[in-house]
Amino acid sequence: MNRSDHWQNLARLGEELLYARFGSNAEPIVPSTHPKTSLKLSFHPPLTELASRQSSQNEQPAPAPLSWVMPSSVIPDPVPGLLARAAERLAGQFADLPATSPLAPETLASMAGILDQTAQRLGDNYPYFHPLYAGQMLKPPHPIARAAYALAMAINPNNHARDGGRASSEMEIEAVAHVAQMFGWESPNFLGHLTSSGTIANLEALWVAGQERSGQRIVGSSQAHYTHSRISAVLKLPYDSVAADDRGRIDLDALESELKKGDVGTVVVTLGTTAMGAVDPLDRIVELQARYNFRIHADAAYGGYFKLIPESLDEPARRAFTAIHHADSIVVDPHKHGLQPYGCGCILFRDPSVGRFYKHDSPYTYFTSKELHLGEISLECSRAGSAAVALWATHRLLPLIPGGAFAAGLAAGRRAALDLHSRLAADSRCVPLSAGAPELDIVVWKIAGASMEESSRRAQRVFDACARRNLHLALVQLPQSWFEPASIARAQDAVPLITCLRSVLMKPEHEDWLDRIWNEYQVASHEELGK
Ligand SMILES: Cc1ncc(COP(=O)(O)O)c(C=O)c1O
Repeated sequence: MNRSDHWQNLARLGEELLYARFGSNAEPIVPSTHPKTSLKLSFHPPLTELASRQSSQNEQPAPAPLSWVMPSSVIPDPVPGLLARAAERLAGQFADLPATSPLAPETLASMAGILDQTAQRLGDNYPYFHPLYAGQMLKPPHPIARAAYALAMAINPNNHARDGGRASSEMEIEAVAHVAQMFGWESPNFLGHLTSSGTIANLEALWVAGQERSGQRIVGSSQAHYTHSRISAVLKLPYDSVAADDRGRIDLDALESELKKGDVGTVVVTLGTTAMGAVDPLDRIVELQARYNFRIHADAAYGGYFKLIPESLDEPARRAFTAIHHADSIVVDPHKHGLQPYGCGCILFRDPSVGRFYKHDSPYTYFTSKELHLGEISLECSRAGSAAVALWATHRLLPLIPGGAFAAGLAAGRRAALDLHSRLAADSRCVPLSAGAPELDIVVWKIAGASMEESSRRAQRVFDACARRNLHLALVQLPQSWFEPASIARAQDAVPLITCLRSVLMKPEHEDWLDRIWNEYQVASHEELGK
């Protein structure tokens, strides 16, 4: 069997499995579990029709639907069908290779059995893909990303060098340019690449910061991601934390006191903190930069994509995102809000000449092309080319443009967060942040109680009761004073942090599911706290 046959067999196997489950006339329009409307699935057109519509590289993609529905027992997964067709097409491009051995039927049978067991094991998870999962920062990858990733896995390209990932390196360069454009940076006037995570992307940013500002301190707020101090320790760079205000934003007075000491080389500015989506006032920090001369690293791992919807944000956050192009480096995680499978972070530098810090020789690679190998501008060696392919394909379907379907999805989550915040504010059993509504799409609230300990215990009980009802929230520890400013003076409350409830409403579907989410929350809350 040649390679092409092998591909076709795999494609056929995919089709067979698909039809075995749904029948050969499987109709891809199915009733939705959507609470308000009956959604038509985004993969409504038959695959043959999709094929004729298939856009060339230069064609504009068809407008993408705002909402997508994850597979469930009711809704068939579009990915196997999409994949089978594309896999065949990919196989055709390698059709002239000599035959290799096919998998033995017994091996295929064992594989099917092992996959059954795998599926069984994977059931031991929270349903991250479902709108009733509204806890941590977990957003399902778009089906186009899953399909493109799986398709590329047949090649398994390595974007370290063009020797290992020719097409996928080009796709990475294009996809990263799309991300940079979102922040107002155009090729070739920036340097950037994908990373395996936001942590590695931040590591590269702080590593470059340390090269540029040797011996100087890095500072970030107490609400900056915990990895910044750890990364700094790994890099042997001095790191200090400065206070956050009652909105979780870096306290500008505290920051300026540090800057006045004259030894701060870099400020980490978080646009979308992990705990509550707070947005540090980047615009104000840019003003401070003119006086104190430091680098700005914008950690927008979570919030970066909100740059596309300034009109949906309140004034301070809007101003911060508007200033993002002034940052010296930006991190954004396509595997958070960008609809990608894990393994997709992104680091961008405003000054492409920082590429000099990465300069190295590789005695094993970099031979097949004089073009830039991404390993030459990256600290990691092997990287998943499939991650780049998935991101590129997602951008084809959902371009990163204001007013586009991708931006509309973000705005829907943001509206859901504002809606949840106002419902909580009207419920006497809850205490929302005293500073007001969330800045992005993460809502935090404490449960009223006679003491901090009681509030914390109640939060845990409500959290558990919600989970029993399939509504998955998260817990977070935050200063009590952010909910009750007067409590700062109450000496009897020795514990500084209180356990609160937290909900990350990052799926577009959360907006339409909010009534259902609220209903489940109310029932759980009534069970645990009474009226
Ligand atoms: C603001 C921020 N920075 C960095 C990170 C780390 O990113 P990753 O989990 O991709 O390593 C996170 C993760 O939640 C984050 O929220």
